[in-house]
Amino acid sequence: MTFLDRFNTTIRSNHSLINVVTYEETRFLSMIAESPLFKDKNIIVWDLGDGFKSIRGEMIGIKSKERPDPINCLKEIKKFNGNAIFILRDFHLHFRESIILRSLRNLNHDLQFTKKTIVLTTPSPTLPIELREDVCQMELELPGYPEIEKELDNVVINAAQGKPPTPQLKEKIVESTLGLSMVNIKNLFSKIIITHGTIDERAIELILQEKRSIIQKGEILEFFPVQESLNDIGGLENLKSWLRKRSQVFTHRAKDYGLPAPKGILIIGIQGTGKSLTAKATAGLWKLPLLRMDLGRVFGSLLGESEQNLRQAIHLAETISPCILWIDELEKAFAGSSGSAGDGGTSARILGTFLTWMQEKTKPVFIIATGNDVTKLPPELMRKGRFDEIFFVDLPSTSERQAIFKVLLEKVRPVIRQFNLEKLAEATTDYSGAEIEQIIYDAMFNAFDDNQREFTEADILASITEIIPISRLMSEKIDALKAWASQRTRKANSEL
Ligand SMILES: Nc1ncnc2c1ncn2[C@@H]1O[C@H](COP(=O)(O)OP(=O)(O)OP(=O)(O)O)[C@@H](O)[C@H]1O
Ligand SMILES: [Mg+2]
Repeated sequence: MTFLDRFNTTIRSNHSLINVVTYEETRFLSMIAESPLFKDKNIIVWDLGDGFKSIRGEMIGIKSKERPDPINCLKEIKKFNGNAIFILRDFHLHFRESIILRSLRNLNHDLQFTKKTIVLTTPSPTLPIELREDVCQMELELPGYPEIEKELDNVVINAAQGKPPTPQLKEKIVESTLGLSMVNIKNLFSKIIITHGTIDERAIELILQEKRSIIQKGEILEFFPVQESLNDIGGLENLKSWLRKRSQVFTHRAKDYGLPAPKGILIIGIQGTGKSLTAKATAGLWKLPLLRMDLGRVFGSLLGESEQNLRQAIHLAETISPCILWIDELEKAFAGSSGSAGDGGTSARILGTFLTWMQEKTKPVFIIATGNDVTKLPPELMRKGRFDEIFFVDLPSTSERQAIFKVLLEKVRPVIRQFNLEKLAEATTDYSGAEIEQIIYDAMFNAFDDNQREFTEADILASITEIIPISRLMSEKIDALKAWASQRTRKANSEL
């Protein structure tokens, strides 16, 4: 059911007070004005600036006041005789006055069996508690595929020179603008035409740039440039295969096929085993923008503002969707959410907001949360149905260490060099990927320091003995983590 159908049904079923949540007031107005569903109705807009105005320019017989005020607005609506939708703009700014709330509730009652409907447009879904019973709330989603496609077709027909885009390119363009508002999309299409004179592959780069600039306006989210791919990860075959299978999942085709959009994964594991690396590589594989959310900053903001900040960040991420939202070191953020933290319950509320969003989100925002101390994570977060999977990343096995050495050595010496990978892997039992990386760099520094000679296998083997793997220092903690994980998680490492 489209938004307009739902809106229409709500009006016809005698709801006289509707709250439409949208940032796109203009789009909402033109949708209502242009739809044949409401052609028998007067569509009348009211705001403090202009008072009453019919959007189709009809005479409505309400005398305009020099200084419009909200109480008078409600009185006029009560007196009005006819079939109309009144769209009140910025009305929520008056909710602090109790007389407004009361008048609105009374009016709602009076309008019940009339053909008059009041619509309050607001940018966020927060309504005063007094109104929750009376108001029917609905969200105007951002423009969907057909709406954007229509806009693109108009642009192509009217303005673009040269060859029209292929159906594949059109699909790619429409998909990459999903998540933007119609105003943004229209501006963006104009910008493409102005810059290139035509619509071709270069359009995609401009669209990505636009999405980046939207992100940079916020503080809690960071746009993370991605160079990594799955080839940069040695081992972790189970996790990689899970990710590979889902690489097309946010496309239009996958949706038409009926595939559910994945929610996200939680990757728990020992330090330095490639969790953060996996988040980056997934964005590379899925070709989606990677947003890193700093939950620490959410909590750090002024008391009472934290929740608002989280909501804003979530909304922003949805605006950029499809995207990957990466929450690194999750436990740091949620450490105090059990209530004993003495922060007046802020952490618990934030956790609640976050969980509700995870449960209900419909936008293609894929969450990758990473962490290594499960004892600090709230159990609610790990309940079934929150994440699609919880993966556990163990220390790499012998064959995985071979793969890690191969990946890391090829990075520093792309020209093939012979190293006995088996031998190196045998010598690094209990070492993590991050430690293997450190070993290779140490070997390189030592050789460089020795007359800048090329580093050898012997240098690497010598560095291995100089580093004690962290896992040996904290074996008890790691054993506890493994025991916990064996019950509750899927293995990221393959069995081999
Ligand atoms: N499986 C791996 N394959 C290739 N490189 C790896 C692997 N694991 C770790 N590394 C190397 O170690 C670096 C650090 O790994 P990463 O930051 O992903 O670890 P982490 O699991 O997130 O650790 P932490 O728990 O400390 O956050 C990576 O950038 C990479 O160079
Ligand atoms: Mg990490």
